[in-house]
Amino acid sequence: MTDYHGKLAFITGGASGAGLGQAKVFADAGCDLVLADVRAQPLAQAHEYFTRRGVRVHTISLDITDRAAYLRAADETEKVFGTPPQLLFNTAGVNTFGAVEKSTYEDFDWVMGVNLGGVVNGMQTFVPRMIAAGKGGHIVTTASVGGFQGSALAAIYCAAKAAAISLMESYHMALQPYGIGVSVLCPANIKSNIAEATFTRPAHLAKTGYVVNEQTIASLRQIHSHGMDPEELARHTKAAMEANQLYIIPYPEEKERLERHFADIVNSILPMSADPEGARKRVEALANWSKSMAESRKAARPAADPTSAISTEKPPSSA
Ligand SMILES: NC(=O)c1ccc[n+]([C@@H]2O[C@H](COP(=O)([O-])OP(=O)(O)OC[C@H]3O[C@@H](n4cnc5c(N)ncnc54)[C@H](O)[C@@H]3O)[C@@H](O)[C@H]2O)c1
Repeated sequence: MTDYHGKLAFITGGASGAGLGQAKVFADAGCDLVLADVRAQPLAQAHEYFTRRGVRVHTISLDITDRAAYLRAADETEKVFGTPPQLLFNTAGVNTFGAVEKSTYEDFDWVMGVNLGGVVNGMQTFVPRMIAAGKGGHIVTTASVGGFQGSALAAIYCAAKAAAISLMESYHMALQPYGIGVSVLCPANIKSNIAEATFTRPAHLAKTGYVVNEQTIASLRQIHSHGMDPEELARHTKAAMEANQLYIIPYPEEKERLERHFADIVNSILPMSADPEGARKRVEALANWSKSMAESRKAARPAADPTSAISTEKPPSSA
């Protein structure tokens, strides 16, 4: 997509940091905006900011972990704009740091709930609506470079972001036939307010095994003051979306670390000479299974399956 005029962008976490940067860049490009965020005051400020600039903007107070509320937000969006979004940004996220072995269930539930559950809810809510609208579009989920490798001090965050990356790899393939692009933004440091994430932690998930106090928050603020400007990040994101890139990682300093990490993984695989016959049988079995899955999908719903529409073969029912 390169023409954004009159297109609608729904941005979670749109009141701050990376989400606000996306809102500014895509509003400049011509989009109308729905900004959804759990924090009321920054949301009101963002509303005022965009309204003053003549942008058609609607804000929704939303906790992305609340499925019923997410559904209501989608209905509200369609009521206000008459359409589901063509651009969905799953950007809201939280982090907290501490020894993984000290984690409480509440640490898991909060961090996984927002960073993974919130993304799942965004996809479950909007993907069927975007498909039904038939206008194509693009979805960008913000994960993290942390999602490519575990960390003893950010284990839950990394696990949630790893799952978000994997999900977007799957959706990237699945939504292609509908003209919906899918990308996963994997930032390193962003100049944002994520050091304040602890203030959005719900009371029923407050019990933590980590040390979180003014000092830890101040040291995080210091790190993020050196991060990439959110609008710069959003401009990289926009360019990558236009190239239909799956991974968006505009941080050159991450390249060597990721090269080493993926080389470790690939180098741990046995060479083909270790078991050529076993490998051949396993590959063949998988190929046969994939073929039979494709055939049964086609037979079950030839008209509704978009892959059958682009196939040159006639579906079996009409043969
Ligand atoms: N800051 C970084 O260095 C960094 C690095 C890699 C990835 N990220 C990711 O970037 C994304 C944006 O974060 P940011 O750095 O701009 O932080 P930020 O705190 O400035 O913005 C995140 C926004 O998400 C909102 N939010 C939090 N929980 C929510 C919930 N349950 N429902 C709705 N909104 C909620 C917050 O209120 C906030 O406005 C996150 O997914 C984060 O994990 C950040």
